[in-house]
Amino acid sequence: MPYNFDAVTDRRGTNSMKWDVPEQELPMWVADMDFETAPEIREAIKNRADHGIFGYTVVPDAWREAVAGWWDRRHGFKMEKDWLVFCTGVVPAISSAVRKLTTVGENVLVQTPVYNIFFNSIRNNGRNVIENRLSYDGTNYHIDWEDLESKLSDPQTTLMLLCNPQNPAGCIWSREELGRIGELCAANHVRVISDEIHCDLTDTGYEYVPFASVSEVNAQNSITCIAPTKTFNLAGLQTAAVIVPNADLRHKTERALNTDEVAEPNAFAIDAAIAAFTRGDEWLDALRAYLADNRLLVRDFLEKEIPEVGLVPSHATYLLWLDCSRITGDAAEFCRYLRSETGLYLSAGIAYGSNGKRFLRMNIACPASLLKDGLGRLKAGVKAMNLVQL
Ligand SMILES: Cc1ncc(COP(=O)(O)O)c(C=O)c1O
Repeated sequence: MPYNFDAVTDRRGTNSMKWDVPEQELPMWVADMDFETAPEIREAIKNRADHGIFGYTVVPDAWREAVAGWWDRRHGFKMEKDWLVFCTGVVPAISSAVRKLTTVGENVLVQTPVYNIFFNSIRNNGRNVIENRLSYDGTNYHIDWEDLESKLSDPQTTLMLLCNPQNPAGCIWSREELGRIGELCAANHVRVISDEIHCDLTDTGYEYVPFASVSEVNAQNSITCIAPTKTFNLAGLQTAAVIVPNADLRHKTERALNTDEVAEPNAFAIDAAIAAFTRGDEWLDALRAYLADNRLLVRDFLEKEIPEVGLVPSHATYLLWLDCSRITGDAAEFCRYLRSETGLYLSAGIAYGSNGKRFLRMNIACPASLLKDGLGRLKAGVKAMNLVQL
């Protein structure tokens, strides 16, 4: 079935966090998409709504089969159905696991720049953020292994939050890198939470590797968070899962999620997830092709029109990481300037760690017409700022 990703759906007036902005603004910040979800999922949700009764919901075996079937079919990872635990979201799962698996004052390691909410899940629970800064060579990011090993070997470091693929720079970690991270963590008694929420959003031919699939060491020492919500634009439905192959760790995770009351689905969460993971393939493949085109559109535009803004090359997520170091030492200031001068609303890179200071994050999951509008505003903003600085 052909899908029309060019269609512009007005999201104003729907209590959308992203679009709750003044009329002249174009939001390209928070990570949800401006595309309607797959018709197969809408149909499942409508059917559920038509039933008219919305009582407490259980997690059926069909949900486990749908999730396990998707990871087997799409990512070559065979999981046992009973490794899966339902959760209302990836962030609730991470925060809950942080509380269960570490104590106040311990260190949780993250590789920056990284999804900003990781910092909240750590700090709001009284744990310390330890940054293993990814090194940037002016084009790509690499893991600083020496630094990673030294920080993992601190006995106060008991947990690592991995982002695979990485938001915001779009790194897809290789099997070798994941194996090495897993070995280092296990050797230092550091557990791993692998957030794989962006895993389906890669360009064709650039497949991600599930952390737990790499080795028995990785599987036994990790909790993996997954969801259909980024992939199919369902964030508001609150439907996610954790994969925990180790029975003891799974027991702890189940207790944590239950104690924090984030283990029970709303009336739509299960049906939507089953529809996504059993009937969403075709839509997703079309979406990936559209996003790849959007990425190329940005790359070509920047090269031709604003070469002073660099694009960190990536093949995952719909978030682009823009290197603004040639135009400003403070991208947060530039971000505010862009918003007030042109209405273009991007995310300032500093939110993702101190090494994001000279970067902006741009969400390109929108119809090409909106993307072109955004790029035009970006160009106008850069030109205007150059004039101000002269
Ligand atoms: C890496 C990452 N994890 C988790 C989330 C949010 O997950 P949830 O809405 O399931 O809590 C996001 C949203 O942007 C994300 O980028």
